[in-house]
Amino acid sequence: MDAIGAALSENQQRVKELRQLLQKASYAYYVLDSPIMEDSVYDQLYHELLALETDFPELITPDSPTQRVGEKPASQFHSVRHNIPLYSLENAFDSADLVKWQERWRRVAPDIHEFEYVCELKIDGSALALTYENGLLVRGVTRGDGITGEDITQNVKTIRSIPLRLELDDPPPTVEVRGEAFLPLSSFETINQEREQAGEPPFANPRNAAAGTLRQLDSRIVAKRKLDFFAYTLHIPVGGSRQSAVSEGEVQLDLLSNSADVESEHIPVPNARYPIPQTQWECLELLQDMGFKVNPERSLCSNLEEVQEYCNRWLTERHNLPYMTDGVVIKLNSLALQEQLGFTQKFPRWAIALKYPAEEAPTVVEKIRVNVGRTGAVTPLAEMRPVQLAGTTVSRATLHNRDRIAELDIREGDTVIVRKAGEIIPEVVRVLYELRPPGTQPFEMPAHCPECGQPLVKPEDEAVTRCINASCPAILRKGLEHWASRQAMDIEGLGEKWVVQLVDNGLVRAIADLYDLTIEQLLTLERMGQKSAQNLVEAIENSKSQPWSRVLYGLGIRHVGSVNAQTLAEQFPSVEALAQASIEDIAAVYGIGNEIARSVHEWFQNPANQALINRLQTAGLKLAGEVSPVRDSGNAPVNQPLSGKTFVITGTLPTLKREEAKALIQAAGGKVTESVSKKTSYLVVGEEAGSKLEKARALGIPQLTEAELIQLLNASGD
Ligand code: IVH
Repeated sequence: MDAIGAALSENQQRVKELRQLLQKASYAYYVLDSPIMEDSVYDQLYHELLALETDFPELITPDSPTQRVGEKPASQFHSVRHNIPLYSLENAFDSADLVKWQERWRRVAPDIHEFEYVCELKIDGSALALTYENGLLVRGVTRGDGITGEDITQNVKTIRSIPLRLELDDPPPTVEVRGEAFLPLSSFETINQEREQAGEPPFANPRNAAAGTLRQLDSRIVAKRKLDFFAYTLHIPVGGSRQSAVSEGEVQLDLLSNSADVESEHIPVPNARYPIPQTQWECLELLQDMGFKVNPERSLCSNLEEVQEYCNRWLTERHNLPYMTDGVVIKLNSLALQEQLGFTQKFPRWAIALKYPAEEAPTVVEKIRVNVGRTGAVTPLAEMRPVQLAGTTVSRATLHNRDRIAELDIREGDTVIVRKAGEIIPEVVRVLYELRPPGTQPFEMPAHCPECGQPLVKPEDEAVTRCINASCPAILRKGLEHWASRQAMDIEGLGEKWVVQLVDNGLVRAIADLYDLTIEQLLTLERMGQKSAQNLVEAIENSKSQPWSRVLYGLGIRHVGSVNAQTLAEQFPSVEALAQASIEDIAAVYGIGNEIARSVHEWFQNPANQALINRLQTAGLKLAGEVSPVRDSGNAPVNQPLSGKTFVITGTLPTLKREEAKALIQAAGGKVTESVSKKTSYLVVGEEAGSKLEKARALGIPQLTEAELIQLLNASGD
């Protein structure tokens, strides 16, 4: 073997080792919920793998953990016809429905006297069909209408509890796994907090949030959102040939014949080398062995009484689960019996869903008022006669926006049904028009802001109506509360109570006024004592030492939540740098999209905001920070050799995806922008480069091939 060959095979070995280690750690963390490796160690190994794969791209495999990071945004998803339709389930609402169902299926299979049921929790998320070919995940498709769905493979790969490769020594040529993608409640809450902080409407419930996330065109956003997945169905299509011998006790697997329309393809799989499941229970176990997360709360029941007991238990216990469920799915355990029973037009005869009673209640809308948010978004709110719902008293519900109100035609005086969607945000689901009292008026969104009287605006392409008066007291109040909040400037004691008075009394007309407040002024507020006034002035003074990233977050720029603020503050070391940056410069930051970039850019163009920044600067706030240097695993700063250099990438690079090249450049301190200008240091050129290359030539900008770029990166790492 020559020297290059030897290096390759050594690296090949190490790459394999790293993948196994990372895969084990990731499985322990995401599937078993019991970590075996510290995050920093994982990161170190991950970067070692990434570096090797960059040097030897021929070693990249589709199941490498590095392939889970989001890819560049897709322009659209493609429709895919499901090989086997995704049926839905018949609903049962009480035990009488279950008894009727049992009688029905027993009439179809009168000779069956022994049977078992498997009870599974009905996870409230979005169904996915995953295809594995020779053990590798090749496709992830949404349910769609059950016949065709959308190919969202890129997004599916970011779900860490979905294996990229099946843990099977001798995988069948094709395996289809189905299950439910869902958002754990904690992730749902974080996402909604982020959205609210960024002035975006929150998701109504975790199901919508999961479905919305799965259909995100930018898989980097999906990767951030921490979706999870429980597998519950296994299909191994028949017809693949295998080389290995059948070991004793193994039987042929023929799960596809569960499905109504494929019986013609009845060619059994010979020689499979894994225990062939005969029952749904064994399928779940095999799925678990294959590396999937399978819901642990399943139960095998020998009769309907036991099924009922399971359902009763989970009716209350489900509130303690870290994810949402909306019922129990009851399936006949024997796959042979499932096959015998088959399907009706819509449902399998061998399964049914017991749905929990909806957590809904009727009440009366006493008043509809509008609420002005921090970003000026005006949302209608129903004030209702208090009603008990899922253990809490509900007296207000969001009506989301004017389109939703128009759709419902909800009016003051109406009797409505409210639901605690996702057990979190109460919403009005229905109006009982037949109970509408005479003389009610349709609700109309006010034309003027209820707080400042200025005209409201509604952009054509948005459902949201806004107050755009920067000095609207409602916007100012919410802005001040945000500024003082724990994640921003953390000004203890500056809550809603004082903010209202400060604004109403005219002591604060802009955030910067906080820094001019005196104890004497504060003492003019109702119920403010000497001690509290002193403390508040001190807390405001202390907030001057908060870092630049928090100041940026505190400004409350639309779409800039705490995470984005941190990212931007790291890339733009001072307010001047950010204020002068073009939309393109901002969007060049990894993880910052165009919409965010536009919003930040616009904010800094506004003279009132420029004045605010000047005053904050004079007051002594930190509007610049140290650029946090990239650190190695030992937390030592690494030199930033490409600092100050700007790259543009054009065409298709031979091995690196554009996002990967971008990430490598950024990790070395360089900047990547979209278009060529005089400021561009290098143009990285791939195949089929277009106008950017011409422009670079015209401007005399040096060009790099991918190999040269890698050389530059390697040299800079020394
Ligand atoms: S089995 C042919 N099991 O419920 C049977 N479905 O209304 C297919 N779901 O679209 C479904 N948890 O998205 C099954 N443990 C579970 C489930 C489950 C949630 C969803 C699934 C399906 C819907 C049926």
